[in-house]
Amino acid sequence: MTIDSDQDLQALKIVGRIVASILNEMMQRAEPGMTTLELDRIGEALFEKYAVQSAPKITYNFPGYTCISINDEVAHGIPGDRVIQAGDMVNIDVSAERNGYFADTGGSFIIPPSTKLKEGLCYATRLALECAVNEARAGQPLNQIGKAIQQVAKQKGFRIIKNLCSHGVGRGLHEEPKEIPGYYDRRDKRILTEGLVITIEPFLSTKSHFVTEKEDGWTLVGDKDSLSAQYEHSMVITKGKPILLTVA
Ligand code: CO
Ligand code: CO
Repeated sequence: MTIDSDQDLQALKIVGRIVASILNEMMQRAEPGMTTLELDRIGEALFEKYAVQSAPKITYNFPGYTCISINDEVAHGIPGDRVIQAGDMVNIDVSAERNGYFADTGGSFIIPPSTKLKEGLCYATRLALECAVNEARAGQPLNQIGKAIQQVAKQKGFRIIKNLCSHGVGRGLHEEPKEIPGYYDRRDKRILTEGLVITIEPFLSTKSHFVTEKEDGWTLVGDKDSLSAQYEHSMVITKGKPILLTVA
């Protein structure tokens, strides 16, 4: 969507702050020995507390409140009986709807003990998000987002998952502009416009370039023994820095 009133902006900020709070609390409460379903139940209680609906549930009938993906799982992991282990890389993606407005956020973290590789992957992916946000401005080509992500990935020695993209958001979970690549596509002629609401969500990995869907019809996995990280913000494009919506 493109915002056309202060009311739009305020409504997006409210749902953005809520998904950020839910993500933070779930990250803090994740522990080894807990199943991903138990972690999702913490999320469920928070969706109820804030009186918001799970966006993947109402949009795609996703079997969970949040997507929880571990290690070689990159995205859309279904909460279930998988037990979180010490050393796991966990990604939680939280998106919600409130009064017809949607916000989408996500983040990866390590259950201690960590390794240099895991820390480096998380650091590089956060940096990729930050650099891409700094390039996202009204009047700029949309492919500057992928260019910024690609530069960081290359510099830090990680790969980009090419078939997972950032996207428009706001009145729905996934809107135009759909499929904002995480790499530089010179043929993409789209231009960012003022008031446009999008996510930026780089997916960096140690080995994988692509994800494939598991038999469960949801979970997207990379190559065997590959690790990945994702950080995601929803934001409003302006002539200056974007207005970040998914901040607690
Ligand atoms: Co998301
Ligand atoms: Co998203």
